[in-house]
Amino acid sequence: MNKPIVEIAGTGRYTPERILTNEDLSKMVTTSDEWITERTGIKERRISSDTETLAYMGRIAAEQALEEAGLAADQIDTILFATASPDRLLPSTACDLQAALGAENAAAMDIGAACSGFIFAVTVAEGMISSGKAKNVLVIGGERLSRIVDYEDRSTCILFGDGVGAAIVRPATGDRGVVSTYLKSDGRLAELLWRPAGGSSIPASAESVEDKSIYMQMAGPEVFKHAVKSMTDACDRAMEMAGLTGDDIDVMIPHQANVRIIKATAKHAGMPMEKVVVNVDRFGNTSAASIPIALDEQIRAGTIKKGDTVLLVAFGAGFTWGSMVVKW
Ligand SMILES: CC(C)(COP(=O)(O)OP(=O)(O)OC[C@H]1O[C@@H](n2cnc3c(N)ncnc32)[C@H](O)[C@@H]1OP(=O)(O)O)[C@@H](O)C(=O)NCCC(=O)NCCS
Repeated sequence: MNKPIVEIAGTGRYTPERILTNEDLSKMVTTSDEWITERTGIKERRISSDTETLAYMGRIAAEQALEEAGLAADQIDTILFATASPDRLLPSTACDLQAALGAENAAAMDIGAACSGFIFAVTVAEGMISSGKAKNVLVIGGERLSRIVDYEDRSTCILFGDGVGAAIVRPATGDRGVVSTYLKSDGRLAELLWRPAGGSSIPASAESVEDKSIYMQMAGPEVFKHAVKSMTDACDRAMEMAGLTGDDIDVMIPHQANVRIIKATAKHAGMPMEKVVVNVDRFGNTSAASIPIALDEQIRAGTIKKGDTVLLVAFGAGFTWGSMVVKW
């Protein structure tokens, strides 16, 4: 196995208090608990209140991660906030988090790689640390997708939820840490999963609200096929680069989009479901937050233990996809 450059020294998470169940959704659009459960495996998702901003949720998750890593906020030199639903478009959510956290010595920026954002951001952190530009990096994956979902569109509103996960990435001191990463994108497929308006090409307007282009739009079945293919490929790449096979992996954390995507990916990758983490039933798809939330849950539950080999894999809008093997 490759010698790691960085390790994940601490993790944290925050998920909003409010739960939106399938039953609740069936009163809002024509759907049912049975349909949603069978097609997606999702039973409920968390929805942020007006005060549960990304900076607010991020601060709580970050403080947990800092405590685990034994670091104070002013020791963080870089904040990378992976999100597709920033609190504002300008300035970055990472800057808002920096202020909320009191991380006065940090440079802060957002990373846009949708649901693959956490893996992309950890890889950027690895590069910055490797080149001597950073030492203690706070990586956050966080979303408030409920704010950009159309709750009259039953094909998307059932899928998404809100939450934040955090990790401290710092130089590896031994054999534990990130042993391989793989990143890929295909911008030609952007319109299969996108939010057409709200940026500078089609600014937010009464018209873009009226025609709903301000909300996320998705070609579900197409996205499904690409997700399985790309995540399967990404699993192979990260394991190959680490010189490992599926048998060497103790825990696999796939992006939590849909239980059928997770099962199909695991099957193609030859990974038994006993090794595969699933929490999509409780949180739905929280995009960039899904992997760090699941990671933190597993670490705190003791399911990921020292010495374990963990495979992370994600796919999202862009399209973007990526994977990472981490020796715990
Ligand atoms: C969205 C998704 C659950 C839809 O499931 P599907 O089995 O592909 O269903 P389809 O889109 O083919 O729709 C089948 C039917 O169910 C209907 N339907 C869609 N959403 C529904 C809902 N919430 N409740 C009930 N019926 C629904 C459709 O209108 C369609 O009806 P029709 O046959 O009368 O036209 C599935 O495509 C999916 O999970 N795709 C990937 C999405 C994803 O994970 N995106 C994020 C990637 S990071």
